[in-house]
Amino acid sequence: MAKIKKVGILTSGGDAPGMNAAIRAVARTAIYHQMEAIGIRHGYHGMINGHFKELKAYHVSDILQKGGTILKTARSEEFRTPEGRKLAYENLKKEGVDAVVVIGGDGSLTGARIFCDEYSDIPFVGLPGTIDNDIYGTDYTIGYDTALNTVVEAVDKIRDTASSHNRLFFIEVMGRDAGFIALRSGIACGAEAIFVPEVKDQAANLKSFLEKGFKRRKSSNIIIVAEGDDDGGAMAIAEKVKEDFREYDVRVSILGHIQRGGTPSAFDRVTASKLGFHAVEALMDDQKSVLIGMRSGEIVHIPFSKVIKMHKSVDPSALEMAEILSL
Ligand code: F6P
Repeated sequence: MAKIKKVGILTSGGDAPGMNAAIRAVARTAIYHQMEAIGIRHGYHGMINGHFKELKAYHVSDILQKGGTILKTARSEEFRTPEGRKLAYENLKKEGVDAVVVIGGDGSLTGARIFCDEYSDIPFVGLPGTIDNDIYGTDYTIGYDTALNTVVEAVDKIRDTASSHNRLFFIEVMGRDAGFIALRSGIACGAEAIFVPEVKDQAANLKSFLEKGFKRRKSSNIIIVAEGDDDGGAMAIAEKVKEDFREYDVRVSILGHIQRGGTPSAFDRVTASKLGFHAVEALMDDQKSVLIGMRSGEIVHIPFSKVIKMHKSVDPSALEMAEILSL
C-alpha cells in the first residue's frame, strides 16, 4: 500500500474520558512518522460536512488530562445512509486524507465497517471509546475506568446518608443495554444487590432478599440498577418495593451524565495513549478494518466484522460472588 500521508482522527457517539488522550497519541505518533494529522470535528457529521482541521503537535498540548473530546462528537443519522457516506468519502478524497482512526463505541464502529466495505481504498482502524465497556474483543474501553470511579465515589457518598437514616437506595447507572458499569461498581461499593440487563427477572428475588436484610437489621441497603435492566429502571423497581415494603424508607438516585464527565483516571490515560499509538502503527503496517483493543494487558487487533457480530457479556460468576459477599 502507498505510504500514508494524512491520518484523519475523529471521535463519535457518546464522549468518554480519555478520548483526548487517544487523540493526542494518534496525532503525535502520526506527526512523529512524518504524516499529517487531520482532526475531523463532530464525528461522521463533520466528515460529511468537511469539518477538517490540521492538528499540529501543539494543538494537542494540555489535553491529556481533560474529559470530553476536543474534536467534539455526534451521532450522525446521515452517515447511516449511502448518500451520506458518499459525501464523506468525497470529502476525505478532496482533503487528501488517506487513513482514518475512529474513536467510539459500537455504533461508530458499525458505521466504520459499512463505510470500509463500500470504499476500500481508505483504511480505517477503530479505538474502543465508550464508558459502557461493551465492545467485543477488548477487556477495557476508553472511559470505563473513569466512569467506574465516578460511580464509586458517588455511591460511597450515598452510603453515608443511607446508613445514617437506615434507608434503602436504588441507584441507577449508565451502560445502555450492558451491565458492566453496574456489576463492577456494585462489587466495588459492596452493593446489596446488582441488577444487570444480562440477567432477566431479578426483581422477582428482591422480595426474599429484602426480607432477609431487614431481619438482619442492615443499617443501609444499596441496590445498583443498570439503566438497561428489564425490570424497568431504578424508579420503577423502587415504586414496586415501596408498595410491598412499607417498613423501608426508599430513595432513588439516578447518576446520569455525571458518569461521562471528569478528568480521566491514570488507567484511562495510559490505555488511551497505548491504543492511540498502536492505531497509527497498525495503519503503517497496512492493517485496516480492525479494532485496536487490549486483552490481558496486550494490544490486540480484532476485525470490525467480528467486533460487530459478537456480543460481550458480563461474567455471571462475578454476580454470584457479589451476592455472597453482601450476605
Ligand atoms: O454509550 C454511552 C452512554 O453514556 C450510555 O451509557 C447511555 O445510555 C447513553 O450514552 C446516553 O446517551 P445520551 O448522552 O445521548 O443521552
